[in-house]
Amino acid sequence: MRVPRRALAALLVLAAVPATASCTAAHGADDPRPAGAGPAALAPYGRILPAPVSAHAAGPGYAFGPGTVVRTGTTDDEEVRKVGELLAEQLRGPSGLPVPVVDGAEGDGIRLRIDEGTEGAGAEGYRLESGPDGVTLTARTPAGLFHAGQTLRQLLPVSGPGTVPGGTVTDAPRFAYRGAMVDVARHFFTVEQVKRYVDQLAQYKVNTLHLHLTDDQGWRLAIDSWPKLAQYGGGSEVGGGPGGYWTKDQYRDLVAYAGERYVDVVPEIDMPGHVNAAQASYAELNCDGKARERYTGIKVGFSSLCVGKERTYEFIDQVLGELAELTPGPYLHIGGDEAHSTPAADYAAFMDRAQEAVAKHGKTVIAWHQLATAHPAPGAVLQYWGHDRTAAPEKAAVAAAAKAGHPLILSPADRLYLDMKYDATTKPGLAWAGFVPVRRAYDWDPGTYLAGVPESEILGVEAPLWTETIATRPDLEYMAFPRVLGLAELGWSPPAARDWTAYSRRLAAQAPRLDSQDVNYHRAPDVPWR
Ligand code: ACM
Repeated sequence: MRVPRRALAALLVLAAVPATASCTAAHGADDPRPAGAGPAALAPYGRILPAPVSAHAAGPGYAFGPGTVVRTGTTDDEEVRKVGELLAEQLRGPSGLPVPVVDGAEGDGIRLRIDEGTEGAGAEGYRLESGPDGVTLTARTPAGLFHAGQTLRQLLPVSGPGTVPGGTVTDAPRFAYRGAMVDVARHFFTVEQVKRYVDQLAQYKVNTLHLHLTDDQGWRLAIDSWPKLAQYGGGSEVGGGPGGYWTKDQYRDLVAYAGERYVDVVPEIDMPGHVNAAQASYAELNCDGKARERYTGIKVGFSSLCVGKERTYEFIDQVLGELAELTPGPYLHIGGDEAHSTPAADYAAFMDRAQEAVAKHGKTVIAWHQLATAHPAPGAVLQYWGHDRTAAPEKAAVAAAAKAGHPLILSPADRLYLDMKYDATTKPGLAWAGFVPVRRAYDWDPGTYLAGVPESEILGVEAPLWTETIATRPDLEYMAFPRVLGLAELGWSPPAARDWTAYSRRLAAQAPRLDSQDVNYHRAPDVPWR
């Protein structure tokens, strides 16, 4: 058969993609159509988001159909079996196929394999190989297999059976910490609502869920030794709504659900400020011994725990002790931001005791970067939430702390705060850090962002979603999507993959997936949606 010359050239390009970094999906090298041709042009291996370290299409693919099984290797690996069960469940829904999970490693289908020697995979990376007899996912860890499965989902059609194109992906994350935060204190959200967000995040390889559990307007987690915190302090939210709280069992269920998706929960109890809900629940937490009124406005900086009272430290020790028991991950977040009603010396003295309490309960501190002005404990992690207009001395203090060995999580408010409006037409959200269009959220480099802080000091990135103006799931999703996909890529993909034009096309190509999941995303004008 005679093949027209132009088509032949395209075929040769597809077949001859070399095994070097230049064939990363981010560069679109397996995409024969010119740049700017729109998302329809992206071949499956070029659509993967976050962009993998390398991906190439080669040879015939695997027909995913009624006979497809997931093979989880040896039965004695319970965790791999669980990853396989969850992947099968994620494949069944959209495809309508049975996708049974079977033991044993050999045979056609989707094969999950642990191989300690998987090159370059680290703790979360993987290799995916697709050919006519199946798709093999290989990793050093079950977490790596989970992430491989999420890539596989993106190589399949959004619905129905289909072909996983032949080819190979080799992948591992740039940063260990890739987080999203939800403020369930300003407005209460249910465990089911947060689980849905976990599913949405995990499919893009976000691996940390930071929960802002307490603030002036509400206390959202039951604490046995101080029951009124949730029972009374949980009964309010911004705007005067009923609020709510999670029982410990509900919280455990959420933590386990996230854990099955390789998402660690980092719980935050914000102190010594942002504590009005606690001070309304217990008179003894106030220096004057009088309980505060519940608060439903959106001012900050007016509340403070009583630094000179020993009862305050019994309180934080008991609360952090119960929280540590509920937390399988390594971190407890103790806030430390906007303590405008706590004198500086008191703040430093208080944060010393709070950090001691975290260490006593076997956890590592994360605090907002204001802890740099006090005495961060050895190993404490600082979360930077400054922005372009943050004063140079404040940035320098954070850089000095990083130099002294405190890893940083970057959450620049004018890049990653998901509650900032996209533009003047965005209905929910705030704008104190400026508008944050989709491009602005993505188009910066965490590795060079803070002067004097090398990439080696950056633990990762996190996108917080504060909820003073956000009370419903649709609004939450509208603010998070699509910007949180940019966070996912900044956290995962190699620096060489960071290219706005290529990314915006990958992002646009996610639209059918987001639509099929009924995600209420913002169709931002700076993205070439189809
Ligand atoms: C913050 O936005 N107050 C951390």
